[in-house]
Amino acid sequence: MAPPRLIARHLAHPRGVFGRFVGGLMNRRNSRMNRFALQLLDVKSSDRVAEIGFGGGATLGPLLDRAAHLTAVDRSRDVVAWATARYRIAVDAGRADFRIGEIEALPLQSGQFDKVCSVNTVYFWRSLPAGAGELRRVLKAGGVLALGFLPADAMGRLGFPKDIFTFRTTGDVEHALRQAGFGAVEIHRPEPDTAWNVIVAR
Ligand SMILES: C[S@@+](CC[C@H](N)C(=O)[O-])C[C@H]1O[C@@H](n2cnc3c(N)ncnc32)[C@H](O)[C@@H]1O
Repeated sequence: MAPPRLIARHLAHPRGVFGRFVGGLMNRRNSRMNRFALQLLDVKSSDRVAEIGFGGGATLGPLLDRAAHLTAVDRSRDVVAWATARYRIAVDAGRADFRIGEIEALPLQSGQFDKVCSVNTVYFWRSLPAGAGELRRVLKAGGVLALGFLPADAMGRLGFPKDIFTFRTTGDVEHALRQAGFGAVEIHRPEPDTAWNVIVAR
């Protein structure tokens, strides 16, 4: 079922107290997709990892537990502030940093990450080619991307509001990733009839 409009607006850009509440909802509703994406990403203790669009932050703890370093970017100033406070010890120890930024122009140097993940964000990108290009740019050669989302057909069936969510087909996302320079692009679902997918690209 599609979320009510007020919640949908905070999924796109969480703000304030209500945004924090919606962050908790996201953590519960999206937990299976996020866990599956992390499983596919297969983070090693030597990996430098980035997450883009972390929202409620359900993945931050597991990524910090596994990776050598985590950089997490979100366009919402509020979620960046919450994550910085929540993971203050890791930030002070130099193991994590949280930044305000947009996928279309990531505030990150090129070629510095072994793994990057982004889950439930493609609906809000202003441009698929720009986002895909930025994800490729910040990965090292041979680095791995996990990109999880609900494709257009399922979003249409569930009645997501089209003025807040841009519906993306799996084929369009795959094409944008290939055009951005990812040579191998695989589509994964935990079961054949799962509505969402996680694309792994390298
Ligand atoms: C629906 S939430 C998903 C959060 C989490 N990844 C999950 O699956 O539960 C989308 C998050 O991505 C952020 N976001 C949306 N568009 C973005 C963009 N273009 N660049 C960076 N962050 C973006 C939003 O601020 C929000 O925190």
